[in-house]
Amino acid sequence: MTSAGTGGTPADPGTPRGGDDEAGGGQARGGGAGFETLAIHAGQEPDPLTGAVVPPIYQVSTYKQDGVGGVRGGYEYSRTANPTRAALEECLAALERGARGLAFASGMAAEDCLLRTVCAPGDRVLIPDDAYGGTYRLFAKVLDRWGVRHVPVRFATAAAVKDALEKGPARVVWLETPTNPLLGIADIAAIAAGAHEAGALLVVDNTFASPYLQRPLALGADVVVHSTTKYLGGHSDVVGGALVAADPGLADRLAFHQNAIGAVAGPFDAWLTLRGIRTLAVRMDRHCSNAARIAAALAAHPAVSQVLYPGLPTHPGHEVAAKQMRGFGGMVSLRLRGGEGAAIRMCGRTRLFTLAESLGGVESLIEHPGRMTHASAAGSPLEVPPDLVRLSVGIETCDDLLDDLHQALA
Ligand SMILES: Cc1ncc(COP(=O)(O)O)c(C=O)c1O
Repeated sequence: MTSAGTGGTPADPGTPRGGDDEAGGGQARGGGAGFETLAIHAGQEPDPLTGAVVPPIYQVSTYKQDGVGGVRGGYEYSRTANPTRAALEECLAALERGARGLAFASGMAAEDCLLRTVCAPGDRVLIPDDAYGGTYRLFAKVLDRWGVRHVPVRFATAAAVKDALEKGPARVVWLETPTNPLLGIADIAAIAAGAHEAGALLVVDNTFASPYLQRPLALGADVVVHSTTKYLGGHSDVVGGALVAADPGLADRLAFHQNAIGAVAGPFDAWLTLRGIRTLAVRMDRHCSNAARIAAALAAHPAVSQVLYPGLPTHPGHEVAAKQMRGFGGMVSLRLRGGEGAAIRMCGRTRLFTLAESLGGVESLIEHPGRMTHASAAGSPLEVPPDLVRLSVGIETCDDLLDDLHQALA
């Protein structure tokens, strides 16, 4: 976002700004196609066989060979490559401006593949002290047994990361920004510089922002991770994950492991995700503007003790978010003066906001992270406050969403 030095005003905290190609590091258009054009066309040429204008679902496991080893277009077996998945992977690489994209059965499958590609027993990984609960569980309950150690760090300042790197080497610095569910913001460019100086790879989980709002590779990250289940899919009808790497050599190693481990996206899931991506830009604009209004209204509500939304000028990461994001996103978390009981009551009272896990779909969702998405972090340094409620603000009529929240808090 080139234009935003200090971000939005209180009256207009999350309005997306900038031109059509300015997310994540503020690259100018410079001859390449714009974001919306890539979302609709990258990897999605009309089908050469029939002219079908969207990629067909190649629901197939294997491909006829023209003589032994005579594979057509490189397709021999669908775990290794499938045309529908290839279309999604090409589009993901284009949107994140990476060397290569890879699509997985879930965000966790993508994370697992990445960590098993780049880490070996004895390696350390720095992770945010408010990372997504499933990511924490992968480190604490799975990778730990294989000798990969995680070190929770408060990523709000690049200095904290530098300190942690001085205490011991790390193979990977794992960032999430904004974080799930506390909406913490980390300065990707500053942390990339520190990580590289210390010989570590910088991985950024870009799920909450989506490539429309933020492009970590342009800010120095090495690999971007997505739960495509969220904004990329966008309709709460498919589970998926993705990796996009900046370096072609690393991308090829990841592709080798994707095939060797095997948790790939199926053709129909890849097709649904690609269908969602075509409208990502317009959906994100509305998610951002609805969330900005809701955050401002909640901040003025007497039952609410704190609103966590990077678009609010009071948010400690506001300036950094304004620098590295095109808009502030559709996720809003809030803490209630009435404590855990009030938080749980609110979650049970909304009518339009559906009580459910996940996020990033067109419909608004509400949840209690402490008892739901982040229950696996209970008792750990990543435990979330019990009075916390997380909203995934959808693209419904904003006045209706505001009415619903007001009646739920009454
Ligand atoms: C930030 C973040 N990263 C990764 C994941 C894992 O993705 P999936 O549920 O698709 O496996 C999630 C899921 O909620 C998430 O919120």
